[in-house]
Amino acid sequence: MTRSVLPSLLLAIESSCDESAVALVRDGVQVVAERIATQTAIHASAGGVVPEGAARAHLEHLPSLLNEVLAEAHQAGIDAEIGAVAVTTGPGLVGSLLIGTGVATAWAWGRGLPVLPTNHLEGHFRAAWLSTDGVPTSAQLPAVVLIVSGGHTLLAHVDEAGRAQRLGTTIDDAAGEAFDKIARLIGLPYPGGAALSALAATAGRNVSLALPIARTDSPYDFSFSGVKTAAVRLALESVGADPAAPGRAAALSRLLNERPIPSVARVNIAAAAEAAIVGALVERVDRALAAHPGATLVVGGGVAANEPLRMALAAVALAHGRALAIPPRAWCTDNAAMIGAAAYAAFRDGRASLTNAAVGLRVEPSWAFGSPPTA
Ligand code: KG4
Ligand code: ZN
Repeated sequence: MTRSVLPSLLLAIESSCDESAVALVRDGVQVVAERIATQTAIHASAGGVVPEGAARAHLEHLPSLLNEVLAEAHQAGIDAEIGAVAVTTGPGLVGSLLIGTGVATAWAWGRGLPVLPTNHLEGHFRAAWLSTDGVPTSAQLPAVVLIVSGGHTLLAHVDEAGRAQRLGTTIDDAAGEAFDKIARLIGLPYPGGAALSALAATAGRNVSLALPIARTDSPYDFSFSGVKTAAVRLALESVGADPAAPGRAAALSRLLNERPIPSVARVNIAAAAEAAIVGALVERVDRALAAHPGATLVVGGGVAANEPLRMALAAVALAHGRALAIPPRAWCTDNAAMIGAAAYAAFRDGRASLTNAAVGLRVEPSWAFGSPPTA
């Protein structure tokens, strides 16, 4: 690994799960160009991401996305300024990560440029610094950080120097996973978080159900499997089945196929589940802010696109007198601009070095937030 001056303009590539994305980011904050291809249609019938299909789709999409971003850079007369390639090397699906790092290192090698292995979760965190005009956002350190996505739920404290200390995580499902599973239960296609939220919004103030917020041993950990179980019981009750005996997943979906959940119950289940998930997230954030005076609140990940969560976090930040930074929705879900932002910050803070593309990159499917790459 070599350490030198980081160039201003980074090409960034993301392929850790089911979005293929390429972006150009200046100084770690300004999104100059970006393209995203989502694979939800490919995975919808399976009700979740199929790793083999995801990797194949990345291979199909990434070269054309890269060409489009480079054509835009050429048109703007800035393609020669691209000085390094940032790419997600973890955490994520191993096959998907391998395609992204393969495309990144091959292209960088061809141009004689170095590469920067980048952590996907740090990307979700650093997305709060992004803008299209380069004007600083409200994101600042030190910060209490909440990352909520389909695969991760994480609460951390990041100090002024960018050093992370993990406060808590989920002991079972991720927040987005809970949204997606309950969405599926009530007949919404994968990934159902946004659709569930839209359905819940139709309930207005008429939600009569309250689902419990699970306690955990650590004050900062999360648990969402209880919300899912409670939602299953409500669904069974609504069709007149025995709520105490939900049985196996296949039997449950057969039963709900034969006896569809009435639409009023679907709305109630969606609203109650959303309220319980948002309530659990906000409760832990409230505690973390109380324990870290002076920290701002930075939020990222696909679930941060959820409107009731955004409003509840704004209220809790206000109550503590703290600044809140949540990216626009398009940068909450997976994208490549956030990888450019994270790579830049990690290099600037001395936590990452430019790597010779000819040496190649190691993917790290379980790379934890805030820890250095092992490669
Ligand atoms: O960050 P992301 O794009 O991918 C991962 O890294 O996992 O997050 C995807 C997750 C999915 O579970 C999706 O249902 C959820 O974010 N999501 C939402 C909303 N938009 C996306 N969940 C609740 N409300 C939303 N509006
Ligand atoms: Zn993600």
